[in-house]
Amino acid sequence: MSRADVNAAFRLDGEIAVVTGACGKLGPIWVGALLDAGARVAALDLPGSVPSDAFAALAVSAGDRLIRVDCDITSRPSIAEACTRVVTALGEPTILVNNAGVDQPPDAGGANRSAIEDLPIEQFRKMVEVNLLGTFQVTQIIGGRMAAAGQGAIINIGSLYASVSPDQRFYDHLAGDLPFLKSPAYGASKAAVVNMTKYFSTLWGRRGVRVNTLSPGGVLGGQDEQFKGKYGARVPLGRMAEAVDLAGPVVFLASRAASYVTGHELRVDGGFTAW
Ligand SMILES: NC(=O)c1ccc[n+]([C@@H]2O[C@H](COP(=O)([O-])OP(=O)(O)OC[C@H]3O[C@@H](n4cnc5c(N)ncnc54)[C@H](O)[C@@H]3O)[C@@H](O)[C@H]2O)c1
Repeated sequence: MSRADVNAAFRLDGEIAVVTGACGKLGPIWVGALLDAGARVAALDLPGSVPSDAFAALAVSAGDRLIRVDCDITSRPSIAEACTRVVTALGEPTILVNNAGVDQPPDAGGANRSAIEDLPIEQFRKMVEVNLLGTFQVTQIIGGRMAAAGQGAIINIGSLYASVSPDQRFYDHLAGDLPFLKSPAYGASKAAVVNMTKYFSTLWGRRGVRVNTLSPGGVLGGQDEQFKGKYGARVPLGRMAEAVDLAGPVVFLASRAASYVTGHELRVDGGFTAW
């Protein structure tokens, strides 16, 4: 690539992207950024999942460059069926954003809290099943096709909590008999995704598939003022992430601009994990 080609290398015209968990909060950020860069996008999410307003707006503006496909990433047959639909409707996927994930949002009332000693193992298992095993199965099926075709870019969505433990003091203003505890399963599952990213980057490097993690920090949207104040004070850039902060990094990792970047964790956290 010559220097004159660098700007063009960020374009994704002709690329076919698959984004899992596309109908939630961050899904539309990835989908919108990939569409804006020229890709066509298949938006996978659970059957019956209610699209966020942001996703609904994209569905209107993108026309036939965006398709919505049912897929449960914990079910291999469901992923295989979704993959067939994508290939039939759009063609061979060249970009995969493994975004689908589950977390345990802070609850206002505290009805479902437990002391760490009593944390139900089912809750831990569910996060591992979706965040880690689901990501693995989608990578097997869709990433496997990319490796067979000899090209592709996979972006696994991690988290700042892949690297550091949550600061539970962010939540100590929430009412309830027991303190709200962010689950240890979340960070553990995301740390495993970072490692699995390295695994596939080495396995498929010679087959033309780049595999990276994009680890966002906390993204603005619906948090209470006390949380935002405490969280923002802990971030070197002084604030939570906004949608626009995430768009450039995902396009970079998906594009030829990142042609020599693989096995990397790109933390988009305002410096949170630098402190
Ligand atoms: N929101 C943040 O501040 C933040 C920060 C760091 C990392 N992340 C990560 O970003 C990703 C997206 O987070 P979000 O905030 O948009 O969450 P979200 O809950 O708003 O959206 C997640 C989406 O995944 C889907 N999903 C859940 N289980 C699924 C399954 N089995 N198969 C297919 N789809 C499934 C849900 O239906 C939903 O649409 C997650 O991996 C999350 O861990 C989020």
